[in-house]
Amino acid sequence: MTEPPPAVLLTRELVPEAMRALEGRCAPDVYTGPPDAIPRAEFLRRAEGRHGLLVMLTERVDRELLDAAGPDLRVVANHAVGHDNIDVAECTRRGVLVTNTPDVLTESTADLTWALILASVRRIAGGDRFPRPRAPWVRGPRMVLGQDLHGKVLGIVGCGRVGQAVARRARGFGMHVVYTAPRRLPAQREAELGVRRRDLGQLLTEADVVSVHAPLTPMTRHLFNDETFAMMKPTAVLVNTARGPIVDEKALARAVENAVIFAAGLDVFEREPEVEESLLALDSVTVVPHPGSTTTRTRAAMGLLAVENLLAGVSGRRPRTPVNHHRLPVSRSGSPRS
Ligand code: DGY
Repeated sequence: MTEPPPAVLLTRELVPEAMRALEGRCAPDVYTGPPDAIPRAEFLRRAEGRHGLLVMLTERVDRELLDAAGPDLRVVANHAVGHDNIDVAECTRRGVLVTNTPDVLTESTADLTWALILASVRRIAGGDRFPRPRAPWVRGPRMVLGQDLHGKVLGIVGCGRVGQAVARRARGFGMHVVYTAPRRLPAQREAELGVRRRDLGQLLTEADVVSVHAPLTPMTRHLFNDETFAMMKPTAVLVNTARGPIVDEKALARAVENAVIFAAGLDVFEREPEVEESLLALDSVTVVPHPGSTTTRTRAAMGLLAVENLLAGVSGRRPRTPVNHHRLPVSRSGSPRS
């Protein structure tokens, strides 16, 4: 007698190539409701009895959800590299595998970071709003004054894959790069990238562009606040393509409005998808709806990787990009609990 295919829930329809990769491999239940996140109550209900969940970073996978899913759950495949939406420790305790989608989105996210850096220093969002009322305007010597990048200092906060890809691009703009991270990069890597390590305080006083690439943890929550903004140069810009809660948005709005810093570019928000009202009123703040990884090629790669991880997880194979595989209890067959 053949075994029934593994039951999985996808909290959002993926790109077509990723959906095709699921065909004939499992029995997927796909949430296709309005284009917002799956409502929590529905997520809890539809998770029940699943062997695998493929979730977006908008879904919280916590004890309540794991209880609702029940003991058959083997894998939670996140469609994102950041996994602060998942209680990994609790998943590990229950023998549930967690996977993410690193590497495939590094370059696209670094490109988007640079789009926001350029938009912030050259005031693109404010400039774009300028001619839209269709009123005549005259180009003047004080109009839309921005900042230069050449010869300036880029400060990378959190120098993992994306931070390093952002640093690599800085050479083309003639910038010097400093970084802060809990661990120093190997000396050879520092030399290849042309980066020097600083502590956060030094970096904030030195940098003309501060770009955030740290994970969201209790240590990094509100790392950017009134106090840290006050350490930055009044001509400096802040760009955040990591996680919204790393920046206190009310404090950021105060800092930009009171010229404590020059401008900001945000891909992520403290209470995403909500954006702090006082930020929206500021022409020197560029806000985009978390499109760090949303290029056609990268979305396809993320979808395919998440599906590959999901299918590996439900069948007890080692997934390509596990978050907690090495910490899971091992079954007699040598694979994580199946
Ligand atoms: C992720 O996948 O964690 C990023 O936020 C993509 O932009």
